[in-house]
Amino acid sequence: MSERDDVLALATRLAHEAGTIQREHYETVHRIETKSAAVDLVTEVDKACEALIVATVERERPGDAILAEEGGGTDHAGAEWRWIVDPLDGTTNYAHGYPRFCVSIGVQHRGRAAAGVVFDPLMDELYTATRGGGAFRNGRPIRVSNETDLSRGLMATGFAYDRRRSERDNIENFAEFLQSARAIRRDGSAALDLCYVASGRLDGYWELKLSPWDVAAGLLIVEEAGGRTSDAKGGNEHWNGAHVVASNGPLHDAMIDVLARTAS
Ligand code: IPD
Ligand code: CA
Ligand code: CA
Repeated sequence: MSERDDVLALATRLAHEAGTIQREHYETVHRIETKSAAVDLVTEVDKACEALIVATVERERPGDAILAEEGGGTDHAGAEWRWIVDPLDGTTNYAHGYPRFCVSIGVQHRGRAAAGVVFDPLMDELYTATRGGGAFRNGRPIRVSNETDLSRGLMATGFAYDRRRSERDNIENFAEFLQSARAIRRDGSAALDLCYVASGRLDGYWELKLSPWDVAAGLLIVEEAGGRTSDAKGGNEHWNGAHVVASNGPLHDAMIDVLARTAS
């Protein structure tokens, strides 16, 4: 087994363990705190999942860097392997008992995405990918859709937590896509949105101002499923993954055109 396979196996095990915590505590009362804004939440389950993942990676792979949403781990420069962890993607859903959330773990090797795992514990769906090795749901290969007409496309998006104070709130984009595509979903988990593009349930997804942990696993899964990913202008150079367009490929340019028509 290569080291990358070891990393994938550990990420898969941790996603299952954290997902089990999420499932066991789902629809129980949570301690809900706010973070960057009144709409940016964290629960004790986010923290418990992150603590488990970080402690295990630190124990089993000392020396690897860790960037985790709730601040655990050490993101030291120069490490060969870097874990980028969203312990619970879809916290608002989780806090409300809305059944759409997941664990997302992306691992970079020398600065490049090498492995990605996203686990939805209620659907019992595990999405995995390794660079050059394809993308899978529960071990079966997945593929993006082959829709070629945006007017028949099902899109998804999301809105950043600074929307009450920022003009770049994605509302104009949303209105524009509402007219151009067949329908839009806003389901509250960026990582699952990306996995749904990868598996053909969605034809495209865009969002602005994301964080590395939202997309570290999902972007690789889309690419390995044959999809296309880029920044909001269609480029990949110097892209930090904050503004994201992910599509089945054929619809990508049309999505970039829609975004180019708006100011937000
Ligand atoms: C959020 C979700 C949501 C997206 C936000 C993210 P969190 O992550 O992925 O769908 O619209 O931009 O921050 O806070 O639930 O981990
Ligand atoms: Ca997230
Ligand atoms: Ca999160």
